[in-house]
Amino acid sequence: MIYKIALVKGDGIGPEIVESAVAVLNKIAAKFNHTFKYKDVLAGGCAYDATGHPLPEETLKVCKESDSVLLGAVGGPKWDNLPSHLRPEKALLGLRSALNLYTNLRPATMHPALKDECPLREDITANGFDMVIVRELTGGIYFGENGRRMGPNGKEAYDTECYSVMEVERVGRVAFELAQKRNKKLVSIDKANVLESSRLWRETMHRLAKEYEDVEYSDMLVDNAAMQLIRNPSQFDVVVTSNMFGDILSDEASMITGSIGLLPSASLGSSKCGMYEPIHGSAPDIAGQNKANPIATILSAAMMLRYSFDLAKEADCIEEAVTDVLNAGYRTHDILGNSNKKPLGTREMTKVILDYI
Ligand code: IPM
Ligand code: MG
Repeated sequence: MIYKIALVKGDGIGPEIVESAVAVLNKIAAKFNHTFKYKDVLAGGCAYDATGHPLPEETLKVCKESDSVLLGAVGGPKWDNLPSHLRPEKALLGLRSALNLYTNLRPATMHPALKDECPLREDITANGFDMVIVRELTGGIYFGENGRRMGPNGKEAYDTECYSVMEVERVGRVAFELAQKRNKKLVSIDKANVLESSRLWRETMHRLAKEYEDVEYSDMLVDNAAMQLIRNPSQFDVVVTSNMFGDILSDEASMITGSIGLLPSASLGSSKCGMYEPIHGSAPDIAGQNKANPIATILSAAMMLRYSFDLAKEADCIEEAVTDVLNAGYRTHDILGNSNKKPLGTREMTKVILDYI
């Protein structure tokens, strides 16, 4: 089979980590006899510099015509003062929305080899943890009406959180179905004690729960969830939540795995075409220095094989290689902890992973 992949390398460390993932995909292609055809497209700050817009039409067109999209990261201080519609982050939100990728899967698993990197007490992580955060990705406050105006206290700004039953239902179903394939536990996170949008979210989830009686369902308020994630992370299996809560809680979950440089994500819609990206950002402070951890992007490529191309064996092969490399003690600088080992650079870590595939 030939698979068409759009590469959105983006800004900061984006190009380096996407190159690592491409090297891994090429190794998989050779090993399992597949053909991956790549097309580089611009999005984010680099696209603004080249074309005056963070998400050029051409990029959207190529992404829509591809079988899936692999993205590095966008943004950086250079573009921080642009008006909001020209900011690099707009490209990311625009891509998610234009491709109708309403579900974002963010798995957070503790690698036993990295338990010393986990900032939590050993007794808390004795059982490890293995959760998937299902983040709603094309609705809520990141896409709601916003603006500035004069209010009773002078100048003010507002953003709106709004969810329709349809939006909650479609992401809710993905979460229930994922729970059915895992440990059959689903927690829905909201702020229903304060927000009307959360009350509609909760009502909708309760209605869905009746259709998935094999799944043990519960609700949790987001402030409590932030606490439970560090108090007892092993209680979570599948978590479903809104765009903003998912954004925040997935960063928290990444930290307890040891490093934000490890966590992949898959953005999915109703078709097979998805977008795959690490959950971390563009890390401008280490860009171009061969320091970034490529693992999150490499694991994102594995998710692409699994979810967009139905290549489970190939995805397993990448995930096992990463686990083996970590078990063998190879480390990038973000997962070095107190050890006095010499960290591997992005390229060297990639090379070791290639050797293990
Ligand atoms: C993420 C990022 C993005 C988001 C930003 C860069 C727009 O934080 O993917 O988590 O908020 O979704
Ligand atoms: Mg984020």
